[in-house]
Amino acid sequence: MKSVIPVNLPQQSYEIAIAPASLAHLGSWMQPLKLGKKVLLVSNPMVFKHYGQQVLDSLVQAGFQVSPCLLPAGERYKTLNSVQKIYNVALAHRLERSSTIVALGGGVIGDMAGFAAATWLRGINFVQVPTSLLAMVDASIGGKTGVNHPHGKNLIGAFHQPRLVVIDPQVLATLPAREFRAGMAEVIKYGVIWDAELFAALEAAQRLDQQRYVSADLMQMILTRSCQAKAEVVSQDEKEAGLRAILNYGHTIGHAVESLTGYRVVNHGEAVAIGMVAAGAIALQLGLWKQTCSDRQRALIEKAGLPTCLPAGLDLEAILDSLQTDKKVKDGRVRFVLPTDIGQCTVTDQVTAAVIRTVLQTLDSSIAARPAVQ
Ligand code: GLY
Repeated sequence: MKSVIPVNLPQQSYEIAIAPASLAHLGSWMQPLKLGKKVLLVSNPMVFKHYGQQVLDSLVQAGFQVSPCLLPAGERYKTLNSVQKIYNVALAHRLERSSTIVALGGGVIGDMAGFAAATWLRGINFVQVPTSLLAMVDASIGGKTGVNHPHGKNLIGAFHQPRLVVIDPQVLATLPAREFRAGMAEVIKYGVIWDAELFAALEAAQRLDQQRYVSADLMQMILTRSCQAKAEVVSQDEKEAGLRAILNYGHTIGHAVESLTGYRVVNHGEAVAIGMVAAGAIALQLGLWKQTCSDRQRALIEKAGLPTCLPAGLDLEAILDSLQTDKKVKDGRVRFVLPTDIGQCTVTDQVTAAVIRTVLQTLDSSIAARPAVQ
């Protein structure tokens, strides 16, 4: 069971290889790419404990000279300071222009390692080995790399495409359930905006809230179709001049919720789930899609164990204010990705504050949780 998905780009195309037990093949799959001998393996201590040795063995057997660089886990460490540590190991290991940085970890490790690869010696080779569901279906594909600034997420970064992405679904067995669900939010996103068949397959699944309830066949299908969706979008619009913006479905209100709760109350996937419910409700208000579609989306989000209401105590006006400072504002107007059917969407800046306010009120958990007056 192996899927190979091409990401076709004008400058440098690459493949996403998805197969159980593929960590053991990493070295041999990198060989045909004619990379230099030196590899810097960036990971975090927990992931490295589980999978580091296997990856090291695979790389060494394929003839690579490997130096590991372990960085602490967590969004708060996604800083220039951590990237500096990668540069220090790159210097000590005398990485050359032909050398490669391999990222073994979730989105934080991939983003930092990718940024180091984009900037060290003005750009060296990069290989992604994502170990979280979110990184497998989103962050590892498409070349967005970067770190956070104290005043905002991902404000410092560069586009730097990997030479190869290797996905081993078996590593999801050690992923905490909450992180698995967070990745499932991005999978549902592809179903809504791009792939109605993926959406239907998710609907047909018994459970989606924990990895152990998802069969190996279904997991392979989920990963393959999600990566295909992302690869198709990125191939058509690498630098987000147009189409790629649809990947921000659920992220407009999602980002506001994440930042207003200090990135501590909800994780990224949970925020995206809430944002998708909000975008679905806005689309309904504007008559862009049907009630049945909106209900199907909500049911799937609930089945994945993801939230559909705003966290308690969030000030709705603060959300509206926060939308104005988001990266998705263009010429002072907030751009929303809104679904028009299951598997289709549109981008618009025509959503009024009044519509957003009405929708947010329906998602206010303090109101939603209140018992109906008899
Ligand atoms: N995560 C959105 C993108 O890669 O464009």
